[in-house]
Amino acid sequence: MRLGRRLVYLLSHPDHVKHVLQDNARAYAKGPPATRVRGLFGDSLTVVDGDRWRRRRRHVQPAFQAGQHAQFASVVSRATGEMLERWRPLAERNELVDAVTEMRLLTQTIIIRACFGDVSAAEVEALGRALDVAVGHTDRRLWSAFGWLEVSAPAAARYQRALGAIHAFVSRMVSEARRSAPPPGSLLAALLASSTTGEPLTDAEVRDELKAILVAGHTTTASALAWTWHVLSEHHDARQQLEQECRALLGGWAPGVETLPRLGYTRRVIEEVLRLYPPTWLTARMPVEDDTLVGYTIPTGAIVLLSPYVTHRHPAVWDAPEVFDPDRFTADRAAARPNYAYFPFGGGPRHCIGSAFATAEMQLIVASVAQCYRLTPVSGARVIPVVGLTLRPSPAVPLRLHRRRAD
Ligand code: HEM
Repeated sequence: MRLGRRLVYLLSHPDHVKHVLQDNARAYAKGPPATRVRGLFGDSLTVVDGDRWRRRRRHVQPAFQAGQHAQFASVVSRATGEMLERWRPLAERNELVDAVTEMRLLTQTIIIRACFGDVSAAEVEALGRALDVAVGHTDRRLWSAFGWLEVSAPAAARYQRALGAIHAFVSRMVSEARRSAPPPGSLLAALLASSTTGEPLTDAEVRDELKAILVAGHTTTASALAWTWHVLSEHHDARQQLEQECRALLGGWAPGVETLPRLGYTRRVIEEVLRLYPPTWLTARMPVEDDTLVGYTIPTGAIVLLSPYVTHRHPAVWDAPEVFDPDRFTADRAAARPNYAYFPFGGGPRHCIGSAFATAEMQLIVASVAQCYRLTPVSGARVIPVVGLTLRPSPAVPLRLHRRRAD
């Protein structure tokens, strides 16, 4: 395709995705397309290239190592427990909940506490509101050819105010952590500790990484979870199987990180939701040198698009690709597919640094909610996929809450 003066290639076959993300990853950079999200992501790991990226990745990686998982899990369990309590009177009054809003609030609370420890509810709310404005602004314009030219003065001012509020909050947290001890077990503490090896991260670098994690670490999981409740509300068999697994393994107790390997069906449901509705539905790269792929030259400066949404429905790889079938992810069936037929978390050196965190978080939330509530659809509600920073269900996923007896 042509986009202005640029040539654009959309690669859909798993082998070609593998070539770009893994085998010949050195020949590709994120490049200028990433600048469209620089307002939100700053000069963080997510957008920088080359040696800058390698150094950042070395510094940030330890914050996501397995040792951090028990701490993350307790943050997830606590926030989910609070949400379930909040739902109790709503269920009694037979009120509806919107899965999009609920999952956004929940994942915001989790990522804010994972980054900064015990932050007050008022601060979580204020930071969450600023994140909503900043993400919403980017969402509306990211894929529009003219969007960045159309910004009205009040909208631009609101966006700048939101970015300012996020910056001020993160700066304060970093300064306080430098002055006294950082919150134990937090991502902030891990980032500051990792600065002790090699050339330390500056405060500005720590701030940029935290701001990027705040956005990348909740918009994605919020979309995936909202889709999960929508899909489960429409697939009774899968919902029943999930409820049975949770009942048999947990018997009414909240799941802990040690139960996750046994919650196999719960995990397959999430994997299948990420196949059909991958939050990061499109990613772009630019070759830094001419590359050749199945006889085509991809020139330096072209844009290469990779879309898990497209590849995850590739008929050469997936049987009945439009059908929701969590058992595609049993070990045997998954092993029979080519690499990169499934890549919701990207791949190669720049694969998602938070993938283990996100998977555990989603498993814990889905199992906790499914034990306490059955969420059923509301007739007439129309849910369609909408693209922005993530692929999310829109305009809302209204669901009815039915409290389950095991709780
Ligand atoms: C369902 C949840 C998630 C999905 C689907 C997802 C997806 C992705 C994808 C596809 C990439 C690679 C993008 C590319 O190659 O251009 C990525 C990178 C990244 N993700 Fe995630 N992500 C999720 C959750 C998270 C969480 C929870 C965090 C942090 C707490 C996170 C932090 C990051 C960061 C920092 C990068 C940049 C890595 C680098 O360039 O080295 N993500 N994510």
